Amino acid sequence: MSHFPSPFDVTRSPGWQALAGHREQFAGFSMRETFAEDPQRFAEFSLNDCGLFLDYSKNLITRQTRELLVELAQEAGLQQAIASLFAGAPINASEGRPALHTALRRPIGDQVLVDGVDVMPEVHRVLQQMSELVGRLHGGLWRGYSEKTITDVVNIGIGGSFLGPQLVSEALLPFAQRGVRCHYLANIDGSSFHELAAKLRAETTLFIISSKTFGTLETLKNAQAARSWYLAQGGTEAELHRHFIAVSSNVPAAVAFGIREENVLPMWDWVGGRYSLWSAIGLPIAMSIGMSNFKELLSGAYRMDEHFQSAPFERNMPVLLALLGIWYGNFWGAQSHAILPYDHYLRNITKHLQQLDMESNGKAVRQDGSPVHCATGPVIWGGVGCNGQHAYHQLLHQGTALIPADFIVPVSSYNPVADHQQWLFANCLSQSQALMRGKTLAEAEAELRARGLDEDEVQRLAPHKVIPGNRPSNTLVMERVSPRRLGALVALYEHKVFVQSVIWGINAFDQWGVELGKELGKSVYSRLVGSAAGTAEDGSTQGLIDFFRGRHRG
Ligand code: F6P
Repeated sequence: MSHFPSPFDVTRSPGWQALAGHREQFAGFSMRETFAEDPQRFAEFSLNDCGLFLDYSKNLITRQTRELLVELAQEAGLQQAIASLFAGAPINASEGRPALHTALRRPIGDQVLVDGVDVMPEVHRVLQQMSELVGRLHGGLWRGYSEKTITDVVNIGIGGSFLGPQLVSEALLPFAQRGVRCHYLANIDGSSFHELAAKLRAETTLFIISSKTFGTLETLKNAQAARSWYLAQGGTEAELHRHFIAVSSNVPAAVAFGIREENVLPMWDWVGGRYSLWSAIGLPIAMSIGMSNFKELLSGAYRMDEHFQSAPFERNMPVLLALLGIWYGNFWGAQSHAILPYDHYLRNITKHLQQLDMESNGKAVRQDGSPVHCATGPVIWGGVGCNGQHAYHQLLHQGTALIPADFIVPVSSYNPVADHQQWLFANCLSQSQALMRGKTLAEAEAELRARGLDEDEVQRLAPHKVIPGNRPSNTLVMERVSPRRLGALVALYEHKVFVQSVIWGINAFDQWGVELGKELGKSVYSRLVGSAAGTAEDGSTQGLIDFFRGRHRG
């Protein structure tokens, strides 16, 4: 039964109508002017918690906007929905499950019931299992078939069984334990397998087959390729258990693959793939940074969980980020949202948040199956600064679309080189400043005149130099990227996505849209390899199948 029995349609709520009216007052709104008029704007629209400082003053908002957005969240029953999330209510209605990633970061002694059973002892038992495994690896006690210590760990997994662990292990490279390198194999593309295998030696490599379902095509194909490679390199079936372990909720399938039952770490159906890095799916993280740092990561996320549950909405980081997204997506027509990390170690955060947000909120029906009447999840995109400044920022500044952006930047670098960090930070700030301020026609003209250009030339060039400005952004600043701060940062976005799903009335925890492609993939494959008769349902697909088969004939 749906956890949301009465289909709340946010677009018919008084809060929505009030926001629509309020939006009309923004015709002549200038962020630049509001900063000039209100010296308190930065203090008013910023907050500091969980090791993160959020400046959201460069937004198209007033105090009243925030009040109205908070009222909308209240009307949507957000407080009750947050309580249901943490209590383990079956909020993933289409699959009849809770979404309990928050249980994975709770301390020993807490109790979380799923179907009347407290899951916390099992959560901590698995953490202990991870600790032992990581301890053996780092202590040099986990050895390969030739008794050499393991030097390389390859995580084979895709989607949530890849993006979160990769983000975190690479973001926390300064915390990496010496002697063990972490690699990721996700795509079914043989080239990625080939390039990685060329760097490895079978006798010192441990593969983690990371798949909640143990049924994902890409992962199974890569796992089979890894096993064949291991055997071809001199490994034996008898010693396979030293080189292949798994994380899965499908233990029989992992065992059938050849992995020893005691080497299959469990996953639970109450953890969604894109929310699973806190579980044993995070094993490659722990193998890279050690178990105590992994626990720090969990405690950072736990702090954000507490903040999310207890802070009033107008001072609640995930709630504020979510409401700003609603404001732009539903009242300003924004269709995408840029994530711009100004830090090499955080370079994969855009990819992780892309899956987190788009797979969660890329939905068009509400929990009860009725259609949504407004735009839902935006396209999430972006990449590392300053590289983006020399690529797509042009469109952010002068394109026709309104694209809100989140800048994420640490104050200090682990690797100071001359004054690079000062320049990196300055670039980050100047980008959000330029987006907000823009450049007026009068300023553009004055600038050209100051360069000594004649008036015809000034008039010809000035329109090209006008930057509209008034483009919104948030800036998230932290000291240095640490396990705790990163845990809080990732949890912040998890909760942001959840809040938006509650307001739209959609289910953030299923992903049925992914399934159709998987199903069709099987029939296309059988036609490609000639094991199925008949033609594809459409001329385009059949034409492309014929093209492929024509090239593979000789
Ligand atoms: O892409 C769909 C998806 O189900 C993701 O949600 C999930 O993270 C990924 O596939 C991998 O699934 P599994 O861990 O079961 O292999």
